[in-house]
Amino acid sequence: MQERVQKFLSEQGVASRRKAEEFIKSGQVSINGRKAKLGDKVDPEKDEVKVYGKIVQRSEQKIYIALNKPKGVVVSKYDPNGRKTVFSLLPEELRAKVHNVGRLDYDTEGLLILTNDGDLTQELSHPKYEHDKEYEVITDAEPKPTQLEKLRDGIELPTGMTSPAKIKVRSGKVYITVHEGKKRQVRRMFNAIGLGVRNLKRVRIGKLKLPDIAVGEYVELSREDIL
Ligand code: URA
Repeated sequence: MQERVQKFLSEQGVASRRKAEEFIKSGQVSINGRKAKLGDKVDPEKDEVKVYGKIVQRSEQKIYIALNKPKGVVVSKYDPNGRKTVFSLLPEELRAKVHNVGRLDYDTEGLLILTNDGDLTQELSHPKYEHDKEYEVITDAEPKPTQLEKLRDGIELPTGMTSPAKIKVRSGKVYITVHEGKKRQVRRMFNAIGLGVRNLKRVRIGKLKLPDIAVGEYVELSREDIL
């Protein structure tokens, strides 16, 4: 059965669908030796697809991984500055097959999903589905009730207003739930109300809680654990 080349690439874990489109647009993808265009179709059974000159091997099985990301590693397949990546925490046979769903900052820890299921990536990444993302925040000063109210109402950032956030405080830590994924959003929201973030950890995406595993470890899941 034929499918669009960008879908095929994301299913094989080469990159997210959006990133795969960038590879195609910049001429790095070929189908049977011919440069691919956006929307070109491939038959995974017959066609030879290459990215950066390397053949994309077909993998049938869908893989779902929850990783407890440590601080000090970058969420990217390759880092031009040579920093350690989250992919280096996976065994080689998994590393090549999966891509990350969304990102966490270099200094953020916690739940990161990796998969070769392009449809799941689309659904979790698309703002219209509004999947919750919950973070545990340790601030550098005790938050005042008026500051927390501002987070609940939504914060004006240079990139626009954030949606109202759900806020809980437990044992001195703030738990904030948002469903958007603006760059450095949580840090910027806290900075906007005058609080520095000492530690930021993602503890939930939708119904999936950060599994009880050590920092730097991962577990394999099924699709039903996530959506
Ligand atoms: N918000 C941030 O500021 N950083 C992250 O890594 C995730 C959400």
